[in-house]
Amino acid sequence: MAYSEKVIDHYENPRNVGSFDKNDPSVVTGMVGAPACGDVMKLQLRIDDNGIIEDAKFKTYGCGSAIASSSLVTEWVKGKTVAEALAIKNTDIAEELALPPVKIHCSILAEDAIKAALDEYKTKQSK
Ligand code: FES
Repeated sequence: MAYSEKVIDHYENPRNVGSFDKNDPSVVTGMVGAPACGDVMKLQLRIDDNGIIEDAKFKTYGCGSAIASSSLVTEWVKGKTVAEALAIKNTDIAEELALPPVKIHCSILAEDAIKAALDEYKTKQSK
């Protein structure tokens, strides 16, 4: 199976790898796993008082498509509102990276990671 150029670019030069201090009150974390393959993705977002995503970082233990998907979403979410970030669909990611059908679950992992992080945000807000 051939990876698209965009996948290879993100895989070789992943954007925003790393993590934030999870004790920082403006940081939320989404940690998700793919049942199909066991790959794991951690996405952290730093969200300001106005609900704008200021910064994003990820760590992914997984295939090239999962790494590319998480790298891509860290770029996409920056500067977005929480509602805009929630609107990102795995199909958008798969289309941008030209993922083949067997790699769709890798993009689902990235969508799930955004949702998991923003779930924590909502829980924090309601406190
Ligand atoms: Fe499972 Fe890519 S093969 S996340």
